[in-house]
Amino acid sequence: MKQVFIKTYGCQMNERDTEALRALLKSRGYAINDDAHNADVILLNTCSIREQAETKAIGKLTSLLAQKKRHGTVLGILGCMAQRQGEKLQKRIPGIDFVIGTEKLHRVADYLDEHFTDVKAKPMSTIVDIASEKNSQNKISARDLRPHQVSTFVSIMQGCNMRCTYCIVPQTRGRERYRPMEDILEEIQQLSAHGIKEITLLGQIVNRYGQGEFPIIDKQSPFVQLLEKIQPLDGIERIRFMSPHPSGFGNDLIQCFGQLSKLCPHVHLPLQSASDRILRAMRRPYSRDQFRQIILRLREQIPDIALSTDIIVGFPSETEDDFNATLEFFEEISFDMAFIFQYSPRDGTPAALYEEQIPENTKAERQQKLLQLLEQHSHRHNQKLIGTTQSILVEGKARYGDTKFWGRNPGFHKIIFDGEEDLVGRFISVKIERASTTALLGKRIS
Ligand code: 5AD
Ligand code: SF4
Repeated sequence: MKQVFIKTYGCQMNERDTEALRALLKSRGYAINDDAHNADVILLNTCSIREQAETKAIGKLTSLLAQKKRHGTVLGILGCMAQRQGEKLQKRIPGIDFVIGTEKLHRVADYLDEHFTDVKAKPMSTIVDIASEKNSQNKISARDLRPHQVSTFVSIMQGCNMRCTYCIVPQTRGRERYRPMEDILEEIQQLSAHGIKEITLLGQIVNRYGQGEFPIIDKQSPFVQLLEKIQPLDGIERIRFMSPHPSGFGNDLIQCFGQLSKLCPHVHLPLQSASDRILRAMRRPYSRDQFRQIILRLREQIPDIALSTDIIVGFPSETEDDFNATLEFFEEISFDMAFIFQYSPRDGTPAALYEEQIPENTKAERQQKLLQLLEQHSHRHNQKLIGTTQSILVEGKARYGDTKFWGRNPGFHKIIFDGEEDLVGRFISVKIERASTTALLGKRIS
């Protein structure tokens, strides 16, 4: 049996794609091996969002090439970097075998089968398959669940039609394509039959699901209709989604937080910047005040709703005043969690060509300032939970300590407690005793 090692970079969409690929390869007689040294095939499912993501994968590639020379391993590059660079990647790094783009992952097993069984097959190193494919959003549905797995991602769409000036995703993932609602609901029912209790709906801009293609019914967007149809499904106890866009985060969606009992009280809403001038330059179609209104209305529904966001510092031409606007707004909203990125120019995006690129050290300073503020806020939010009892879905063993297990509360806070293996997959109650910036520690009470 041929052994396949797969390493995944980037976002949850990529993780979900890799899971489907694992399932497909297993169904075709390949074994998945966690050790690259024992593999006949090594696949990297790559990310292009920032230069660092690509540098990491290329670093890994270089070390894998040595192994390829020794054992004749097949080395395949998949996903966003494959899509973006195509055959340039093969030319730049001789030794790479096939390069397969984001819409063609379901073809990987075919290429491997040909390679291993057909002596007349094209050499692997000539295969570059990065074409777009109609209905590719419906081809990544196979599952490879772990034993006792309780939480999983469900991709509901692929691609992105927005044109944020910093972002490579529209080029790597193509135009928006939505899966039919019935297929998604059927998939969730099957997941529930396998013991899944928590699902996270995924899309590059998940609240744009179905826009312009599926009807608005009773002033409800297709995404809200989907949430309402998931709510009554037996076995599913928690619903989350990632990541929405502030434009299109309408009242219908905001009201769901008050009305749908399974929808978890946590929203990850990317802000990027709180300077209206920078938001315009980023081509983000909302203002700081519109973002604030969404947060206020969410807090009307659920006063202590957990909030997280993405911020980019050092976008071209960002002045101290622009940055201070972000800093002040960040202070005002007080997010529970945030990902704070230094702007990374991506070839082929408009912002990469803008003059007034910001020096690296200024980006690093601005990132540090926001990270410090975030640390205070996360700590404060976590402290407030001390003494409360939280319902936790137990995910698994914590990384340290033999008896330590972890899970998440509805607000997505990570909670660690003393437990045992058979609690995995169960809902338990934990009383919070201690809090750090990144985690909460508690005692199981039922
Ligand atoms: N540079 C830095 N961060 C970026 N993001 C997207 N493109 C870039 C870029 N060129 C960030 C955004 C987005 C998150 C997934 O990655 O904040 O929300
Ligand atoms: Fe990276 Fe974006 Fe591709 Fe996800 S979709 S892997 S974040 S470039």
